[in-house]
Amino acid sequence: MNNAREILASARNVSKSYDGGRVAVLRDVSLDVRAGEMVALWGASGSGKSTLLHLLGGLDVPDRGELSVCGLDPRREADRLVLRRHHLGFVFQLHNLIADLTVGENLRVPAIALGTPRAAAEARIAELTRRVGLDHRLAHRVQDISGGERQRVAICRALMNSPRLLLADEPTGSLDEATGESVFGLLKELAARDGIAVVLATHERRFAEACDRIVRVRNGEISEVPS
Ligand SMILES: Nc1ncnc2c1ncn2[C@@H]1O[C@H](COP(=O)(O)OP(=O)(O)OP(=O)(O)O)[C@@H](O)[C@H]1O
Ligand SMILES: [Mg+2]
Repeated sequence: MNNAREILASARNVSKSYDGGRVAVLRDVSLDVRAGEMVALWGASGSGKSTLLHLLGGLDVPDRGELSVCGLDPRREADRLVLRRHHLGFVFQLHNLIADLTVGENLRVPAIALGTPRAAAEARIAELTRRVGLDHRLAHRVQDISGGERQRVAICRALMNSPRLLLADEPTGSLDEATGESVFGLLKELAARDGIAVVLATHERRFAEACDRIVRVRNGEISEVPS
């Protein structure tokens, strides 16, 4: 990867524990993510992948250490708001869509939160769903579509605000092999074509190997796996 590219996200000596320090999850972790690169956080269940994504995305705060994402500090409430609105997309392991709303309605939620004009929001929804092959499903309720389709909707939702950084927490974890491949392929295409940086948590080696970099998460520490 081109080291001249801008660093979009960085963690410096970040530590995080739960239960008043009894469960030490991350110890002194440092990581840089550059524009347009796809980074796999690869590690066993419970190793701290989600924790690191949550810290980068401002969904949780570290005990110690510095964080910078798109020039903002996800530890600060005011910065978190700007990050979520304008710079960051988050794809959750279990999609977190609203089951009894339609695909289109789910995608309108972030547009309403952002105050996007209706015509612009509809255009973006049409563009994104066409891209993931779901434009014919807009009027279907989320509870009536397949797991892979839901995950693609979740990716569309995370892209509604045209983020520069996409944090994806095992987006293929609940999918069968073929569907997982297609969702992963979509993320890879986004990184390559749109220059979006993607940080993807996965325990699956084949997906990790298809990323630009593999960062191993183990025993509270991270290490770069040489390619
Ligand atoms: N809110 C919490 N309170 C207490 N312990 C927690 C909390 N969140 C996570 N943990 C613990 O921290 C450790 C790391 O959890 P994390 O969810 O980051 O792992 P993970 O690598 O994402 O695992 P998985 O692959 O199963 O999703 C686990 O041992 C987990 O039980
Ligand atoms: Mg996890």
